Amino acid sequence: MSRLSLPGVVDAHVHLREPGAAYKEGILLGTTAALAGGVIAVFDMPNNTPPIVDRRTLDRKRRLFEDQAVSDYGLFLGYDGGDVEALEELADEVVGLKLYLDETFGDMTTSVPGSLEEVFEAWPGPGPIAVHAESDSIVVALGLAERHGQRLHVCHVPHPDDLLVIDAARQRGLDVTCEVTPHHLFLSKESAAELGAFGHMKPPLVSSADVDLFWKRLDLVDIVASDHAPHTRKEKNSSSPPPGVPGLETLLPLLLRAVDEERLTFDRFEEMTYHKPLAIYGRCGPEDTKIEVVLEGAYRLSDRGYETRCDWSPFRGQWALGRVQKVRLRGASVWEEGKLLVSPGYGRPLRSCN
Ligand code: NCD
Ligand code: ZN
Repeated sequence: MSRLSLPGVVDAHVHLREPGAAYKEGILLGTTAALAGGVIAVFDMPNNTPPIVDRRTLDRKRRLFEDQAVSDYGLFLGYDGGDVEALEELADEVVGLKLYLDETFGDMTTSVPGSLEEVFEAWPGPGPIAVHAESDSIVVALGLAERHGQRLHVCHVPHPDDLLVIDAARQRGLDVTCEVTPHHLFLSKESAAELGAFGHMKPPLVSSADVDLFWKRLDLVDIVASDHAPHTRKEKNSSSPPPGVPGLETLLPLLLRAVDEERLTFDRFEEMTYHKPLAIYGRCGPEDTKIEVVLEGAYRLSDRGYETRCDWSPFRGQWALGRVQKVRLRGASVWEEGKLLVSPGYGRPLRSCN
């Protein structure tokens, strides 16, 4: 049995569903799931009910995190077509602005071209504009970023060919980064066919040939983020299942298995899951923080027994490596052998490094 000591994962894309849908997850359980998965900080998306788009909604969500989070965190601001002045006022208090250029869960699609030009012009940074953009919309987003001199982050890149488009823009001098999810690296349309709605998410899974291309082009990817998007079993079994899958507790062991299989180096793993997410969002890693992972040989991920409230996994049956035994966060032992050792509210916003 061997042990690994790591800085921990910074997961730059999660949906903890509070306020509005705590029955799917909630901040306390979601950040507990983070620690169980070796994730020391999460950046939470704004597609809540109500959406996080102004002073009132952002302050309320921040208070909920202050009271309940047990991992560290950052919050995104969203935009729902309202006044762009709110963006300017709140930019310093969030890790970035999230824009939905295509439809997904939650009603935040910003498809009005005029207002997008206005938003890209108004956003003062320092955080990037992070976009949910599927294929054609990626080109639209790159054009907007170029015209308005914005730093752009493309969330959950839908297809390996999009990586080439993003890289070409980068070669032209655009400040653009991108992210891939574990489900696009470890599941394919074919392998997940039996999952039915439990393998349904936005952007959808690609063919196994395209999964291979994602791996071949991994050098073009800046970060891996879970897009942890829990929905209940009941919702997934319904006649109109919402898109999204949980992933906070499976990202690390799936990627450690890939390191073991030499599909990615250990340095790249640490860069894509820790250093780069911090750098993109201008945050400092917490001091005196590390996770301890026990390696006892590969095991198959289960479908139950997770901390996440929805307690299922699209990765059930997949080979994984490493179990998180301890998490130390800002000088305190916060998670040990499956037990949470701090009270709700221990989590802090990650400090800005800008
Ligand atoms: C996400 C959700 O459920 O909030 N769903 C998803 O399929 N990824 C929204 C999103 O990130 O698009
Ligand atoms: Zn998402």
